[in-house]
Amino acid sequence: MDFELKSLSPHQAAGTAADALILLWPDSADQSPPSPGDALTLWARAAVAERDIDAAPGSTLLAHRLPSVQPRKVALVRTGEGSALATRKAVSAALGALKLDGAKKLLILAGAASAGAVAATVQAVAEATYRYTTTKSKAKPRTVQKVMVGVADAAAVRSAFAQAVATVTGVEWAKEWANRPGNHATPTLLADAAQALARKPRLSVEVLGPKEVAKLGMGAFMAVAQGSHEPLRFIVLHYQGAAKSDAPVVLVGKGITFDTGGISIKPAPEMDEMKFDMGGAASVIGTFAALAELQPDINVVGLVPSCENMPDGKAIKPGDVVTSMSGQTIEILNTDAEGRLILCDALTYADRYKPRAVIDVATLTGACVIALGGVRAGLFANNDGLAQALAEAGEVALDPCWRMPLDDEYAEGLKSPFADMGNVAGRQAGSITAAKFLQKFVQQWPWAHLDIAGVAWKGGAAKGATGRPVPLLVQYLVDEANRLKQSQPARPRGKKR
Ligand code: BES
Ligand code: MN
Ligand code: ZN
Repeated sequence: MDFELKSLSPHQAAGTAADALILLWPDSADQSPPSPGDALTLWARAAVAERDIDAAPGSTLLAHRLPSVQPRKVALVRTGEGSALATRKAVSAALGALKLDGAKKLLILAGAASAGAVAATVQAVAEATYRYTTTKSKAKPRTVQKVMVGVADAAAVRSAFAQAVATVTGVEWAKEWANRPGNHATPTLLADAAQALARKPRLSVEVLGPKEVAKLGMGAFMAVAQGSHEPLRFIVLHYQGAAKSDAPVVLVGKGITFDTGGISIKPAPEMDEMKFDMGGAASVIGTFAALAELQPDINVVGLVPSCENMPDGKAIKPGDVVTSMSGQTIEILNTDAEGRLILCDALTYADRYKPRAVIDVATLTGACVIALGGVRAGLFANNDGLAQALAEAGEVALDPCWRMPLDDEYAEGLKSPFADMGNVAGRQAGSITAAKFLQKFVQQWPWAHLDIAGVAWKGGAAKGATGRPVPLLVQYLVDEANRLKQSQPARPRGKKR
């Protein structure tokens, strides 16, 4: 799908060829005088004045073949105060009301919308028109090919627009791979996809297999993988957008391509949804797709430990003790707490980059779903600055998270008589004890953990991956690149990298 931003008046929009036109209408527009010959604004103002459309954000009025308006179908939609959130809601409502079957070109007139509202518009169009097709023989692909966003002043929102379009690329990469069933998204296939992606500018990738991972001593990661016939992969992505000497942000993504629970096997209902247990990996790799498009001035490393969690003759058993790459030993009390076992070795691997910050992203605990539901991801951090930066990025990107505590008392239950720690504590505060486990593998770097178990996918009738938290991660990295620029004296031209 191709997005284009243009400075466009209502009169020009009316004269633009498109299958459908969406007219965003904030409360403030109720008072704006239409310019002569502006049929679109005249129509909308009359509809508002005659109360043919409610004032609530998302209220929509459809029209067919308006005189002097080229697009055959027009949707007028209220955006309230014009906030990003209200705009996203409004665009979704308008797209739902318009029957877009077969529509190829869409025009959205956003007027004086803020940068955030323009980004939300792009996000909402992508969301509403996305189709998963890969494993369907008669799938209907997305028909919309071109989306034009018309605003009063394109220059004012250009960079937000570019970021939103790149974010869509990342979100759709993540959705595609998270939606693929386990047999179409094995660790090997995921690594192959990362390799294909890394042909893009400024990206590179290394893929490690069982031999290399054994040599590194990643005993916890290997323990999870040993119950599966699919060989593990450790994917290392690099995005170089700054000088080689600049410390990178390291993103770590949980890449369990299917989680049966292992010998501590999960109940059958909804177990299919455990194909989404690589949602963290998909969002981390998807973020690199966005970075390649956006090219911010920052270095980023992505680490993805990927394997299946299966019950098998060779699978780990409750009570088994393994040695992690850090040297710490772990008593595996529950083989279904496998995410932290693969992540802990990746966190140790991250040390070699002397990172500016380490952020792991994982569908880690059912307890986080109970705590925060599908609205906000759980945010854990050993550093207030990093926590605040991520929380703010989440708000701006409409991909919110919520900080959770990390008091040391929460680690009490992880004590083991047979190893340095157990891999689970009691039933209470399950998302926090999981984070406390991870923290035992974190050195002095600022570290954050995003538990995305509740937000990475939707169940039920609209089952599917969301691509979250790609928008949050891209926003954070763009913000971080800007902070870096401000803190560093400008380098002489041409010597940047
Ligand atoms: N992948 C699951 C977490 C999960 C469960 C995400 C349900 C989304 C929905 C993870 O590997 C897991 O099984 N966690 C266990 C941990 C427990 C054994 C301490 C859980 O949450 O039940
Ligand atoms: Mn599990
Ligand atoms: Zn899992």
